[in-house]
Parts: sequence; structure tokens; C-alpha cells
Amino acid sequence: MTEESTKQKVRDAVGGTTDARGGPVDVVLSDMAPNMSGDYDLDHARSVHLVRQAFEVATDLLDSGGDFAAKVFDGQDLADLKADIEPEFEYVREVRPDASRDSSSELYLVAKHRLTAPVREGDVVEVTIDDMGEEGDGIAKVDGFTVFVSGVGEGETVEVRIDDVKPRFAFGQPAE
Ligand SMILES: C[S@@+](CC[C@H](N)C(=O)[O-])C[C@H]1O[C@@H](n2cnc3c(N)ncnc32)[C@H](O)[C@@H]1O
Repeated sequence: MTEESTKQKVRDAVGGTTDARGGPVDVVLSDMAPNMSGDYDLDHARSVHLVRQAFEVATDLLDSGGDFAAKVFDGQDLADLKADIEPEFEYVREVRPDASRDSSSELYLVAKHRLTAPVREGDVVEVTIDDMGEEGDGIAKVDGFTVFVSGVGEGETVEVRIDDVKPRFAFGQPAE
């Protein structure tokens, strides 16, 4: 999976890549592990590199709302790896299955609900409220993506701070 030609074979096999309408696969699962050298830091770094290859495939192919899980050896680069994966999903968990040997440093990063939304938590965007939802929130579109905005009325144009992003919609409120 470190070869571009392999990644292309995978794309061809599933028939395309992710676009605004979604992606061709629901799950990307990697159990890849490097050949062990015995040098812990090196094995950790190679393992992180393999997860990054799988993550590239995941962002390339996952449908909106899809999931990614990958084995990785624990170590100093884990936090950065997880931080790079986090913005692309609703949340990421570290899972250490009972089935792993006690002596093993392996764990799985489980990233749930791929976000293909054009907005992210913390973004401030100007929107026009073009409809009202059943529960009284304003409804706006950002590049065709639905944002529910609290405390606004139909027809208003407001700066909105995005505070929660789901695969198919986001929530926001007027920025102070
Ligand atoms: C723990 S084994 C996976 C076992 C697998 N879940 C099974 O049940 O057969 C780790 C695997 O990672 C694979 N691997 C290591 N480097 C790889 C790479 N660059 N691209 C693809 N696979 C790789 C190895 O070939 C090995 O099969």
C-alpha cells in the first residue's frame, strides 16, 4: 500500500473515489504491520507510516458516514497521527482489544463517521436562512450541505459559528 500503483488498483476495484455525492465504500480496515526489526522506535514509525497509507485510501474512498479502523503500534507519533485523522471523522477512539497479547503494544484507531462536509467545527461562515425546520431552527445551505442555525429567522443573512458536524448536516449559532 506504499505504492501508488497499488492504491490505484484498489480505486479501480471499487469503482471510483469520493466526491461531493459520497464515496464507493463504507469501511476501510487495515491490519497492516511492518516486518519487525526489533528496534522499537523504528517499528513504531513504520507502523505509523502504514496507517497513513491506509488513511489516504480511506479519505479517497469512504462514503460520507463511513468508518476507518487501523492497527498501529503505540509510541511517540501516535498523538500526531490521531490528530491528523480526527478532523475527517466525527470521532476517533483508541481500542486495545482483549485479543491482543498483553506484551503487545498494538492498538486500533477506530475512526467513526467520515465527514465530507464543506464545514468543520469552529468555522465561521456567512449563510442565508432559506427555510425553517420543524423544531424552530433556521436552515441554511453551504455548498448544498445543510446547516441548522438556532435563534435566527427566515430570510436573515448571518455569520454562523459551526459547533457540531455530522455526516449529513451540521449545527451552528450566530457568531458573537
Ligand atoms: C498482522 S498481519 C495481517 C494478518 C491478516 N489480518 C490476516 O488475517 O491474514 C500484517 C500484514 O501486513 C502486511 N503488510 C505489511 N506491509 C504492507 C504494505 N506496505 N502494504 C500492504 N500490506 C502490508 C503484511 O503482508 C502482513 O500480511
